[in-house]
Amino acid sequence: MTSDTSPFRPVTASRSPALTGTVNVPGDKSISHRSLILGSLATGETRVSGLLEGEDVLRTAAAMRALGADIYKDPSGVWHIFGRGVGALSEPDRVLDMGNSGTAARLLMGLVASCPFTTFFCGDESLHKRPMGRIALPITEMGAKISSRSEGRFPLAVTGNQLMPIEYELPVASAQVKSAIMLAALDTAGITRITEPRPSRDHTENMLRHFGAEVTVTTLENGAREITLPGQQELKPADIVVPGDPSSAAFLVVAAAILPGSDVTILNVGLNPLRDGLFETLAEMGADLEVLNIRIEAGERVGDLHIKGGPLQGIEVPVGRAPSMIDEYPVLFVAAAFATGTTVMKGLRELRVKESDRLATMAAGLKACGISLEELEDGLIIEGTGKAPAGGATVSTELDHRIAMSFLVLGLASDQPVTVDDGRVMETSFPGFVQLLESMGALFSQGSSS
Ligand code: S3P
Repeated sequence: MTSDTSPFRPVTASRSPALTGTVNVPGDKSISHRSLILGSLATGETRVSGLLEGEDVLRTAAAMRALGADIYKDPSGVWHIFGRGVGALSEPDRVLDMGNSGTAARLLMGLVASCPFTTFFCGDESLHKRPMGRIALPITEMGAKISSRSEGRFPLAVTGNQLMPIEYELPVASAQVKSAIMLAALDTAGITRITEPRPSRDHTENMLRHFGAEVTVTTLENGAREITLPGQQELKPADIVVPGDPSSAAFLVVAAAILPGSDVTILNVGLNPLRDGLFETLAEMGADLEVLNIRIEAGERVGDLHIKGGPLQGIEVPVGRAPSMIDEYPVLFVAAAFATGTTVMKGLRELRVKESDRLATMAAGLKACGISLEELEDGLIIEGTGKAPAGGATVSTELDHRIAMSFLVLGLASDQPVTVDDGRVMETSFPGFVQLLESMGALFSQGSSS
């Protein structure tokens, strides 16, 4: 195959001047998925502004349409969702293709578990490798049936049923598993109780309350949380303003932190306390980061971030902080590569089952860029010299948007340019990533540097 016919789209980042500007990042992916799903379950019209129009979220929109909701975007950019009520979804006449999105896949498996029909799911090569047993287990216990090709992985079918409520302790800190059970429980008579030993993002709980549902969250003595959800509640339609995604803001924050002289403000970023671990960690590493104008919008904490470039110190990141920054480790590894000293990051086994094995993919790419590190079964230990790493490598993104953006951030401040083999994956969560950073001074080119 010649490079002209290859579907891959390499992108190269080169050493850039200081980044400057006041910008917005696209809407929060987790909140966008949930607004489409819960809006489709409310009775009447829900309006959503700031929805992330990335590929993952558009998969959820298409799936909810196939399940009977009426969803459209008006010319001003506001999305309108005409929900049919809890328990009123209809049988899709096609296989639901979830693309690259683990969140869409897992939340919708829970949602259709209580529907009186069979729903077929498929996805891309990355999604077909990801574990779905973690969802199959609780929803089967509630009474649904799963038929899958291999070990509970995609492609699979969920045959819904009249479910029984459960009491379930999450074996991993996962908002996707918690949310799938809550969505299954919504149309189930009786009270479902979920215990999470380590709290994970609570957007489903917050948004259910925003739609008028009763959800109780109790923090137990050992720090675990218990979520109690009575089933068969009506959801009232609501207006939602989706804040900027802190997981997308993370790339800009690290890029500004490692490029000396940078001065960047990111407006309207979601700062849910169960999502802000990266910002706390960067502050501990000595980053010049301020959080301004904190406010609550649609049940979520929102604020502006002001970041300046400057030296970073290696630290040991507390293991218990991992759930609050689980998607931000790839870009934190990049920050650690620019810090002075050792950064120890452990308790990260979950990173091996994300869009790619993020510990292995990042370790391989960082080593190729001249960074010293040790890869553990559950983490990375990175040795920073306080100087810019060499760079000069082409990195495989393995169908993983966050790997692509992390290495492009690295290439903006390394000695030699860094190329990612396929930039298309960034469309899943951050459409316009390259253009937004270019508007702040970053240097990119399409294609490889060699
Ligand atoms: C998400 C939860 C997290 C996160 C994912 C989005 C969500 O996954 O990694 O990107 O929206 O619920 P886990 O629940 O598997 O930790």
